[in-house]
Amino acid sequence: MTDFGYDISDYCDIDPVFGTLADLDALVAGCHSRGIKVVLDWVLNHTSDPHPWFLASRSSRDDPRRHWYVWRDGPAGGGPPNNWPAAFQAVGSAWTFDEATGQWYLHSFLPEQPDLNWDNPQVESAMHEVLRFWLDRGIDGFRLDAVHRLAKDPQLRDNVPGQRRHDEDWDTMPERLRGIRRVVDSYPDRMLVGELYLLDLVRFVGYLNSGDQLHLAHNFVFIQLPWSARAYRDSIDEFERLSAEHTWPAWFLANHDLPRVASRFDTDGQGAARARAVGLMLYALRGTPFIYQGEELGLPDAKIPPEQAVDVDGRDPQRAPIPWQPPSVAGPGAGFTTGTPWLPLVGDAETLCAQRQAEDLHSTLTLFRRLAQLRAATPALQGGAQRLLDAGPDILAWIREDAQDRLLAAVNFTARPVTLPLLGEGPDATLVLSTDADRSKHELDAGGITLGPSEAVLLRI
Ligand code: NOJ
Repeated sequence: MTDFGYDISDYCDIDPVFGTLADLDALVAGCHSRGIKVVLDWVLNHTSDPHPWFLASRSSRDDPRRHWYVWRDGPAGGGPPNNWPAAFQAVGSAWTFDEATGQWYLHSFLPEQPDLNWDNPQVESAMHEVLRFWLDRGIDGFRLDAVHRLAKDPQLRDNVPGQRRHDEDWDTMPERLRGIRRVVDSYPDRMLVGELYLLDLVRFVGYLNSGDQLHLAHNFVFIQLPWSARAYRDSIDEFERLSAEHTWPAWFLANHDLPRVASRFDTDGQGAARARAVGLMLYALRGTPFIYQGEELGLPDAKIPPEQAVDVDGRDPQRAPIPWQPPSVAGPGAGFTTGTPWLPLVGDAETLCAQRQAEDLHSTLTLFRRLAQLRAATPALQGGAQRLLDAGPDILAWIREDAQDRLLAAVNFTARPVTLPLLGEGPDATLVLSTDADRSKHELDAGGITLGPSEAVLLRI
């Protein structure tokens, strides 16, 4: 738990903190009986330092597992073998010197997370076995953690500022991804989504366009956009332009590594409203929406006093436990635990908790449930074509349509009311859903619709 699950000492078991393999089997069976699929996070770039592979590898330069990890001598003048930095700023160099054998080992993250050497075919086949272990258990797919790190320059050349990085996304990526895909494709109906942290959209989309590598990938260009209708429009447009016919987007705006939407976009007190607008946007865009736990409650970041911080990279606020029940009823653990929570809860757990929101027709949870149901019941929102509209600098608007149905989605990116002219898109427009739970259905007029601050709507046209 040095990196909260991303430091794995046994690829084929469940950490006792979370239960047992039998618990997982029961979870998967319970999900499958309800039509829910289960995807696991596969941490493929690194193990933890107590993993038996690494213990063997570090034990001697001659150990058969030595080259399962990346070991090098430092240069004559001292210091690490090259200038690669670890992903976490607090760590510094991606290399740690190991006294026992007098060499350096590579770790793209913490020193406790040594990088596997995927240039070694034995590693590749051992990792394919890990996939089979879980596929055989009925797991429906994998999120490939830090998948851009799967391939690095085998010559370990220095990164040069402003040039292509040598510590990720190397030319061997496609072959390795194809190998993984072949394993997964030998089972029916399984899925791969990559945590593909590449800010070059051309390279990013390439791993989807080829059709034999990733099914989906989280788009980190999208997640770094400023809250601007124009920026979102351009970015969606660029993705679509670069995409092959079969390429399918995976939109997301939150995960456990990023400040929560309700806090990140809270510049002018609009955080809660924007978190709702983001929900509508993700469900209405063409692609698969990824919702991070708590996003459906509109949770903001929790305030973590420095003495209670546990993460090396400042990611505790977005990882605070889910408040299930009001603390006034369930105690300070809010139904997450009867013990002491591992991190403090969000300040307003009393009103933001799932139980209260489930009872409240105006809540963010109710909105997300309606969005999910609407999408499930609306083929045009699932597989319909998409056309972005030119709705000016303040509003992002797009059409989703199939032979039977036509919908228009619009998001007001400003903190003031803005009118979206319907531009002949449909004089008979009807409001399907608004993120403003107080909006009356009758406020549509023939010429257009006035969106409130940070409001998003879905119209049938
Ligand atoms: C990406 C994960 O999302 C993050 O939480 C983790 O720290 C790194 N990969 C290392 O596994």
